[in-house]
Amino acid sequence: RWTAVDAYAMSHCHPSSRPNTKALENALTASKAAGLPDISASPAQGKFMALMCRMLGVEHALEVGTLGGYSAIWLCSENPQLRLTTVEYNARNAEVARKNIEFAGLSDRIEVINGAGLDVLPRLKEEVLAGERPRFGFVFIDADKPNNWNYFSLAADMAKPKAAICVDNVVRRGKVADFSIDDPRVVGGRTVIENAGKDPRVDSVVIQSVGEKNYDGCLWAVLN
Ligand code: DHB
Ligand code: MG
Repeated sequence: RWTAVDAYAMSHCHPSSRPNTKALENALTASKAAGLPDISASPAQGKFMALMCRMLGVEHALEVGTLGGYSAIWLCSENPQLRLTTVEYNARNAEVARKNIEFAGLSDRIEVINGAGLDVLPRLKEEVLAGERPRFGFVFIDADKPNNWNYFSLAADMAKPKAAICVDNVVRRGKVADFSIDDPRVVGGRTVIENAGKDPRVDSVVIQSVGEKNYDGCLWAVLN
């Protein structure tokens, strides 16, 4: 049912006559053909984040975990004002993403950086603090879950006041609140929820979701 509702609602809210349909479909097909795992954001999630960027008037966004570029294409194809810097650890994924972004005609607005988040983000932070790079108005964290908090904390240092930070997959079918589970990906969700909750830089909430990518949820934070 969750999948049926996503398909039904998206067919009306974002019909396949929209200009970015081919680019999004290509990103999924090419990612699958290249053997990338089927763990990109859902269409509804991609569109929701794109609408958030529109609401906030975001001009510079940061993504940690590019995978095949699917969410990157959502954000930028729906927002002509938006430039995105996206960081991907896996060189092969980064190549697939660059191709998908090229196909989408977005190479001039999306910078794919191949490297580990814990190497790249501190570098970006130095550039931001030196005034060589604008602060980010939106950050999407969707990478290796045990580093959620490390990425979040670096992102908060590089974000503008009133910027939003979204951390994907913190609910994990409810495992986040089953404290007998110590899977490091689940603990990564707990750590970012608990640390963001006491961080004076932000205010935050977790929104659970169901859909074609099953039962999960995101942490949303706004910079004070
Ligand atoms: C996984 C990672 C994701 O980013 C996601 O959205 C779903 C699953 C995973 O590693 O299992
Ligand atoms: Mg994810």
